Amino acid sequence: MKAIRLKQMNSEPQIALADLPEPRLRSPQEAVVRVLCIGLDGTDREILTEHYGQPPEGENELTNGHESLGVVVEAGPQSAVSAGDLVTALVRRPCLEPGCVNCRNGRADYCESGKYTERGIKGEHGYLAEYYVEEDRYLVKVPVESLSYGVLAEPQSIVEKVWEQVQHVQQRLIWEPKTAVILGAGPLGLLAAATCRCLGLEVHVWSKGGSDSLPAERIREIGGVYRSADAPPGEAEPRLTDYVRSLRRPPDLLFECTGFSPLAFEAMDVLGPNGVLALLGVTPGKRTAEIPSDALNRQIVMQNKCVLGSVNASRKNFETGLYRLRQMEEKFPGWLGKLMTDRIRIEQVPQLDFSQIGIKAVVDVVPRDQWKALLHPAAEAEYSFSV
Ligand code: BGC
Ligand code: ZN
Repeated sequence: MKAIRLKQMNSEPQIALADLPEPRLRSPQEAVVRVLCIGLDGTDREILTEHYGQPPEGENELTNGHESLGVVVEAGPQSAVSAGDLVTALVRRPCLEPGCVNCRNGRADYCESGKYTERGIKGEHGYLAEYYVEEDRYLVKVPVESLSYGVLAEPQSIVEKVWEQVQHVQQRLIWEPKTAVILGAGPLGLLAAATCRCLGLEVHVWSKGGSDSLPAERIREIGGVYRSADAPPGEAEPRLTDYVRSLRRPPDLLFECTGFSPLAFEAMDVLGPNGVLALLGVTPGKRTAEIPSDALNRQIVMQNKCVLGSVNASRKNFETGLYRLRQMEEKFPGWLGKLMTDRIRIEQVPQLDFSQIGIKAVVDVVPRDQWKALLHPAAEAEYSFSV
């Protein structure tokens, strides 16, 4: 079968199309999944440009891909899925440390030892191949109506994990959030913005990229406000602080999705009283910055601010994510489809120039007009939906 593999791990990372044997069931709980499509994100780019990928122990190649949508083609006798089911898969697998209480309780997204693995990223092959095998406990069923945008379940699960935590944290007070500010208009920032719109919040997005860019258009389409962080010709770079201070109300919720670390500290400053700042982005750099530590410390204490970091997601977050994507599709029909600007075939992945991607690249491992035929025979009759 065709697969995309990361090679030459010790020198320059490179990806290439490979021919691998088709995987087989190894236990009765497993299923063989035929991959329909795989989404690519910033992590996939970093795997290539920043040596972020790590092959399984004892191997020197890694199959890429962690945002997946596929159809079960063979299910083990004890598996909770059956042939024809549309599925996506969790990314992280637990570490083996007996003392890692979260991994031992099904929450590898809160792994304490750092020895977790992640399919397609760290120590475990990913899904960017024609088939993969996985245990049912790591598979999440996707409703067939969500066929056209189900591949976004993984990035949406990242947003849902944040919202889940925010709800827990904000039990501490009476909270009536009104304004959200999102930093960064990549796929994650856009999904965070749409989520906040679904939650009824006023949404402001601050990002590199002009006001006429594709992400800016997407933000306006959902009723958000886009503000470019680019310097107008001949002028100084605009500052986040000035922008946020010009809003009617300081943000109750702030999502940092750029990974540009100095912005994270500026965000702590402009976050409103009792607000939550969620840090979701990272970059591999070694940047250092001088910060007004006394003022920041004072503000965080005196205004009950909360800063939380969040990575990966649980099964529940995937399920809520699928629910939310459906809500977005109802509220903004066709909008999710417009996030997937670059659709390519698996053979084209090695030539992909990440810097040229409009918003999000999706690899159609099976051509889209063949997807429906692979689902349960009843699916097409039961629902009317288009890909
Ligand atoms: C993935 C997460 C993963 C993180 C860190 C992200 O791109 O969506 O599932 O935990 O990278 O590797
Ligand atoms: Zn662990």
